[in-house]
Amino acid sequence: MPEIPVFDHDAVLAAVDPLAAVEHVRHGFVEYASGQWVMPPKVYLDAPPGGDFRAMPARGAGLAILKWVTSFPGNPAVGLPVVMGVICVSSAMDGRPLALVDARAVTALRTGAVAAVAAQELAREDACTVGIVGCGLHGAWAARCLAAAEFGPGLLFDPDPEAAGGLAGELGWEAGALSEVLECDVVTCVTPGAEPVVRTGDLHPGMHLNMLGADVRGKAEAEIEAVERCELFCDDWQQASHGGELTAPLEAGRITRERVTELGAVLTGAAPGRSGPQAVTLFDSTGLAIQDLAICLPLLEAHGNGSVKVSSIRL
Ligand SMILES: NC(=O)c1ccc[n+]([C@@H]2O[C@H](COP(=O)([O-])OP(=O)(O)OC[C@H]3O[C@@H](n4cnc5c(N)ncnc54)[C@H](O)[C@@H]3O)[C@@H](O)[C@H]2O)c1
Repeated sequence: MPEIPVFDHDAVLAAVDPLAAVEHVRHGFVEYASGQWVMPPKVYLDAPPGGDFRAMPARGAGLAILKWVTSFPGNPAVGLPVVMGVICVSSAMDGRPLALVDARAVTALRTGAVAAVAAQELAREDACTVGIVGCGLHGAWAARCLAAAEFGPGLLFDPDPEAAGGLAGELGWEAGALSEVLECDVVTCVTPGAEPVVRTGDLHPGMHLNMLGADVRGKAEAEIEAVERCELFCDDWQQASHGGELTAPLEAGRITRERVTELGAVLTGAAPGRSGPQAVTLFDSTGLAIQDLAICLPLLEAHGNGSVKVSSIRL
């Protein structure tokens, strides 16, 4: 067996910049919606009392990946990240292992990237002001990807002033109050989802909301009534209906499947996007293996052309 490259956290971020991540994630949604890429449902493995593991497979562009990733919410208290894991990349032609990749860096890039893709596709054409609610790890990457896609300058809110201030300094954006951030044209929420940060009274004509924080059942960043009032979009209905911002309104009978459009269908032109400049649109991101696969493509390319330094192992 030949040696295979191992992409650590820094190698991933050195090989794929935010703009490339946005372009590749957009491409992944188009390929999946066109039936070119395949993604079986993710499998959860509970690991009580601390958290769970998720196995996320996808195939496309000659590759097959399996992302094996955690969610251990109590980890920061002992100095460990919530999300950790590895992505195994194999050839879909003959099954050969091709690479091992740090899942944390890929998750950060692809999660940030989808916020920019959804904003490009679903926000008003003249949208320019952008706000982030929750400036932790994934909020910061959403901001970097939105900035790379030429949104902003933006406003940032986090109850931890260092989180908002540090990111503001990095991007040349500003920290603000939650109410100011919610007045922006594009608002991206990336909080732990323990309590709603968007209420019905915060909705204003022409607004676009990216809801990234609620990625499992029981988390929500918006009041049910606020969700009910928006034009609704999601990354993948099967995932979003079971574990995302749309789950609680769906289970309460306040929204139906017919009201929700997948982002890929909008990107391929199979379904319409926002109905007009006054509409309020909401995109629910739950995080898909096709997004991870989309980031693995430029990674392998960077390794192939020698533009990134990686270590390697022999299996
Ligand atoms: N959709 C996806 O694909 C995806 C991917 C990764 C993570 N997530 C989810 O995103 C959420 C955030 O993850 P993270 O890794 O960035 O966490 P993090 O702990 O790094 O950051 C969360 C930030 O939210 C802030 N916050 C807490 N309560 C808030 C409130 N009421 N208003 C505003 N900000 C608040 C915290 O101070 C913190 O800075 C989690 O729920 C995680 O599961 C989703």
